[in-house]
Amino acid sequence: MGKGFFISKAVGIGGIFVGVAALSTIIALSVVYSQERSKNIISPTEGGTTTKPTTTTPVPSNEPWDKYRLPKSLLPIHYNVKLWPRLKPDPETGLFIFTGESEVKFECVEDTDLILIHSNKLNYTSQNGNMAALTAVNSASKAPSILSSRLQVVTQYLVLELDGKLEKGQRYRLSTIFTGELADDLGGFYRSEYEEGGVKKYVATTQMQPTDARKAFPCFDEPAMKACFNITLIHDPGMVALSNGKAVETTNITIDGHNVQQTVFEQTEKMSTYLLAFIVSDFAYVSSSTDEVLIRIFARRSAIEANQGQYALNITGPILKFFEEYYNYSYPLPKSDQIALPDFNAGAMENWGLITYRETALLYDPAFSSNSNKQRVATIIAHELAHMWFGNLVTLQWWNDLWLNEGFASYVEYLGADEAEPSWNVKDLIVLSDVHRVFAVDALSSSHPLSSKEEDIQKPAQISELFDAISYSKGASVLRMLSDFLTENVFTKGLQTYLREFAFKTTVYKDLWKHLQMAANETGTQLPDSVENIMNTWVLQMGFPVVTINAATGSASQQHFLLDPNSNITTPSEFSYEWIVPIRWMKNGVTQVGVTWLKEKSDTFPEMKVSGTDWVLANLNVTGYYRVNYNPENWEQLLEVLSTNHEMIPVINRAQLVDDAFNLARAKIISTVLALRTTNYLKNERDYMPWESALNNLDFFYLMFDRSEVYGYMQEYLRNQVQGLFEYYHGITENWTKVPEGHMDQYNQVNAISLACRTGLDECQTLVTTLFKSWMDTGNNTIHPNLRSTVYCNAIAAGGAKEWNFAWSKFENATIATEAEKLRYALACTKESWLLNRYLEYTLDSEKIRKQDATSTIVYIAQNVIGQSLAWDFVRARWSYIFTEYGGGSFSFSNLINGVTERFSTEFELQQLKQFKADNADVGFGSGTLAVDQSIERTEANMKWISENKDEVLKWFREEVEKNPARTFSS
Ligand SMILES: *[C@@H]1O[C@H](CO)[C@@H](O)[C@H](O)[C@H]1NC(C)=O
Ligand SMILES: *[C@@H]1O[C@H](CO)[C@@H](O)[C@H](O)[C@H]1NC(C)=O
Ligand SMILES: *[C@@H]1O[C@H](CO)[C@@H](O)[C@H](O)[C@H]1NC(C)=O
Ligand SMILES: [Zn+2]
Repeated sequence: MGKGFFISKAVGIGGIFVGVAALSTIIALSVVYSQERSKNIISPTEGGTTTKPTTTTPVPSNEPWDKYRLPKSLLPIHYNVKLWPRLKPDPETGLFIFTGESEVKFECVEDTDLILIHSNKLNYTSQNGNMAALTAVNSASKAPSILSSRLQVVTQYLVLELDGKLEKGQRYRLSTIFTGELADDLGGFYRSEYEEGGVKKYVATTQMQPTDARKAFPCFDEPAMKACFNITLIHDPGMVALSNGKAVETTNITIDGHNVQQTVFEQTEKMSTYLLAFIVSDFAYVSSSTDEVLIRIFARRSAIEANQGQYALNITGPILKFFEEYYNYSYPLPKSDQIALPDFNAGAMENWGLITYRETALLYDPAFSSNSNKQRVATIIAHELAHMWFGNLVTLQWWNDLWLNEGFASYVEYLGADEAEPSWNVKDLIVLSDVHRVFAVDALSSSHPLSSKEEDIQKPAQISELFDAISYSKGASVLRMLSDFLTENVFTKGLQTYLREFAFKTTVYKDLWKHLQMAANETGTQLPDSVENIMNTWVLQMGFPVVTINAATGSASQQHFLLDPNSNITTPSEFSYEWIVPIRWMKNGVTQVGVTWLKEKSDTFPEMKVSGTDWVLANLNVTGYYRVNYNPENWEQLLEVLSTNHEMIPVINRAQLVDDAFNLARAKIISTVLALRTTNYLKNERDYMPWESALNNLDFFYLMFDRSEVYGYMQEYLRNQVQGLFEYYHGITENWTKVPEGHMDQYNQVNAISLACRTGLDECQTLVTTLFKSWMDTGNNTIHPNLRSTVYCNAIAAGGAKEWNFAWSKFENATIATEAEKLRYALACTKESWLLNRYLEYTLDSEKIRKQDATSTIVYIAQNVIGQSLAWDFVRARWSYIFTEYGGGSFSFSNLINGVTERFSTEFELQQLKQFKADNADVGFGSGTLAVDQSIERTEANMKWISENKDEVLKWFREEVEKNPARTFSS
């Protein structure tokens, strides 16, 4: 799956607020996808013989049907599945349903008198008193008859007990007739709704990964149980039916007096159930074809008419071609469909041949979308297309290896997007979006290793938990490191033989190491140890090291980096928290050839020894998954280079020096003042990455100090720092009339405006209010999409009810999701308490704010220093209502609790938080339970941090301001 929890650039770059991600000591935003769903109990109906009572609570038992993993006795070969989703509610029950028939041919590989097949929330129609019918494929033999059939709800099985044995080597066919609900629960076969031309329209669509194919039809629902599928969909005339394969034919038929159409799809390749997709909609499409592959982009008719699918269509062909060469393997299917859905839980899903997306992840409209929206489309498409081979053609045997699948796609998505948009330098951004993002989580004692043991991952909830930042972003980071030290050439060579060997089969992650080792051996690549042994230190233990380089002596040492140096590590590691660390480095701006390996706790590298004004810089371009600290003299030299000739240091490393320094200071390895000093040189910095890195780190300072006396000095200091950048953009955009050429420059323009307005630079206030007012006066929005988030936010912050109400009416009438997003965020920026309170009320009215957006809107409001206490009061006062109404919804609860308590740093707030926990013990906190405890822990850590740092920080900002009194702006 593509990343689900994604703070889009437009929102991530704060207006007057802080971004959501980078701040907390304890970050609970790591959940990328979660699927806690209401646990309805479904009982068999319509004559299903229930010879044993349906178990509803897990009881310790050794019965096969109480185990979450399928027995190994039966292997599926082929399925025939026919499904008929009803896109009108049943007049009697009001329910949306689907009906289906399925036939699975399987082989018996071990004699057994029991059939277990996954089934969840399906009701079966009786066949001779049973919930299924069994026949032998070979007409010469005979299948045993069914003694009893029942549903095992907890482990999600249809259980058939037989009166004789299925015989090893024989093939059988199991047929079922069933009904399921087409609910709006975003899992399995589900329903999405939208309005077009004043008409309510429905889509039937699917999300199977990880364990919901069994909610659409009975199946052996494990990734290693690959089979071929013949799919048929029944639908109303005129509707479009899609599945993994190409449609073979659509015919008019009559069923029970209904005139419907039946679309038959060509048989799929051998594949896993979690990659299936079935969609019936009224959508339109645009198409093209390259090298015999038909490429189509589907979306709501009005979106296609507005040409919003064109960008996706333009880049899909080149990206597919890129991956064909990268993998040295032709695209394995005859078509590639991609579809944008109004309701979708994750970011996107790599169903083989029919990829599903959120609208904001596939549709692009230059009139409304920012360059960050565009980047998101390019990278997510590349991510999903990469899975067509890595994941779909070759599949990991079980979910415990998910990190390899997702980490790999999260790494090569940058390579694919770079192919589509070579001018962006998008590959550099993996450092901000993945490496830094996951450093924050992986530096906590609550982190976990990339690799899990197969036996530890059994239940659907355990599988879902794996879709986190560690799997995606750490996976991507360590694979990038591996590719770097092997070199890209060796890495792809190994990858290509791996794909050839395992096509249409399943693997474990060590199979990839084996092929990379072969490639390394063949090319004579020098490594300090085997690929497997090197990678074990990164994959089997959690966390990462900080490498300390003492350039005065040439020694280097490593230590497990923990954000809280007092945290307790309770899990021992067989590698004692040591890593085999590849170090690329430079001396005085000259890149050293090859990789220096730190294999021990510490070691000496005479070539790293320098003196005088010489300096070394390690982890070039942050290809290594670790932080770096230096001896004080080398830090001083690096600061000197930054202030006099910063371009001697590569741009990624400038961003890294800032990020390392702030985090080393948080961990009390260096002083907070040293960290702050890395921001001095920003006056002369024009590049995006160092600024973004500094802003991410300063967000924590804003949170801790925006209600204290430090704030004034900090604002003045930062205003001084950003003024040059603001003037620079004023110049190159010819008084804000042009868009900067470079992709990164466009991002940094947003930073310049956001920080200038946030620190109260008059010229910035004038700029944003003028732009916004012209929109209000003329009704004509001339604000460039890149700037909309920050302009809207700052103009609403500077304005009153008139501005707010105007933006609200635009929000209500927005026809494109990205524009509505920007407005919804900006509405939280007002400084009027009554408007914020009213907006809070709106969040619980689904006519005003869609349910899926309620909690994130409350969090936006809490990020506003004025909204903070209002949001906290609101959440406390409405807790039981919020909990019952929104409690079923997945991960948003922990975001809500972390979001509204993020600024907490006083004794009083700590007491309130503890009281909140006690008061609502009876209601509970659902998926936010962990977040409540984390918030308490974070508040205590913040209190401690402030008491240890406030005086020093105040003094430093004051002295900086006194050194550089504010100058006046001239344009
Ligand atoms: C399945 O059966 C249960 C119990 O009879 C019933 O409540 C539910 O509505 C049925 N579901 C469908 C989709 O028919
Ligand atoms: C199928 O039915 C549709 C409308 O119900 C009609 O337009 C179409 O011509 C029919 N096709 C055939 C082959 O009969
Ligand atoms: C599945 O579909 C293919 C055509 O794609 C057809 O040749 C084959 O007979 C079908 N198999 C079954 C069992 O219906
Ligand atoms: Zn993915």
